[in-house]
Amino acid sequence: MQNQIELLSQGIPVKMLQQAFEELSARYRTKEKPYLTSHTHYLAYLITRMPATNAALSQVFKQAHNFDPLSLLDLGAGPGTGYLAAKTYFPNLTQATLVEADAKFIALGKQLITDSVLWQHTALPCPLKPHDLVLLSYSLNEMKDPAQIVKTAWQATQQLLVIIEPGTPEGYQRIIEMRTMLLSLGAHMVAPCPNALPCPMQESNWCHFPARLSRSKLHKQLKGGDLGYEDEKFSYLIVSKTAYDTPRARIVAPLGMHTGHVQLTLCSEGELKSCTVSQKDKLLYKKCRKAEWGDSLEK
Ligand SMILES: C[S@@+](CC[C@H](N)C(=O)[O-])C[C@H]1O[C@@H](n2cnc3c(N)ncnc32)[C@H](O)[C@@H]1O
Repeated sequence: MQNQIELLSQGIPVKMLQQAFEELSARYRTKEKPYLTSHTHYLAYLITRMPATNAALSQVFKQAHNFDPLSLLDLGAGPGTGYLAAKTYFPNLTQATLVEADAKFIALGKQLITDSVLWQHTALPCPLKPHDLVLLSYSLNEMKDPAQIVKTAWQATQQLLVIIEPGTPEGYQRIIEMRTMLLSLGAHMVAPCPNALPCPMQESNWCHFPARLSRSKLHKQLKGGDLGYEDEKFSYLIVSKTAYDTPRARIVAPLGMHTGHVQLTLCSEGELKSCTVSQKDKLLYKKCRKAEWGDSLEK
């Protein structure tokens, strides 16, 4: 994907892309719309944001590995990031409908995706056909009346509904509101919550997770810094139409690695629990040293 994005940007001076990235960042910060007003803005978006949302999508789809969707409905698909991530996790996915309001994103997506997918140039809300996997990735926050959009998305869901939002307090708040509504409509929790109990996160805290992406030279030139990777923070929700056996707990904060013990913050049974695993507990300790923020702990 990274190579294809760089091919699309060939011939455009890096300085122009840098300037477009700076303008984009300023507009996102001040919520000044429209965010993207030139071809260079779209390219700057592809270079700096698409790898990040792709990394978050991959982390989220990993949590749905027990499902086998054959069809995808992506709402606010952008350049098709959701489809590109989904097809690497769901090998039997053969049909995709990508709904997107912005014709420019569709044109770029058509250059990035050579498979046969159905691009639907429409602004939601609109009637939706049933699909196994329905996705709203980083798009709900741009839509008017998110609750109505999610209700319609749930009606179109045959197996799984996945919502991903930026890992900010606002993104988390939107996820929590949608979670409450979907549970009241009969949805079953898949992830990240290990149950359907009220969320135990306090006001000063919010449930979010990291996704690591490696940074290309062009990514570094646009965003600055030398680090070879970036951690994208996201909040998410996966619910299903059928009952699902959720894990016992989920790690909801960075792990504390100390000499002789590992400190874990777990979400379990509707509570946040701090848990210390000592070196003396050999098997569990070995497992926990390899565990990561966002992993689930099985029963
Ligand atoms: C931040 S981008 C995310 C793109 C992609 N889903 C991803 O995860 O990388 C949000 C996308 O939602 C689209 N969008 C926003 N409101 C929409 C609406 N009402 N109907 C359809 N698409 C919409 C925007 O045009 C944009 O492409």
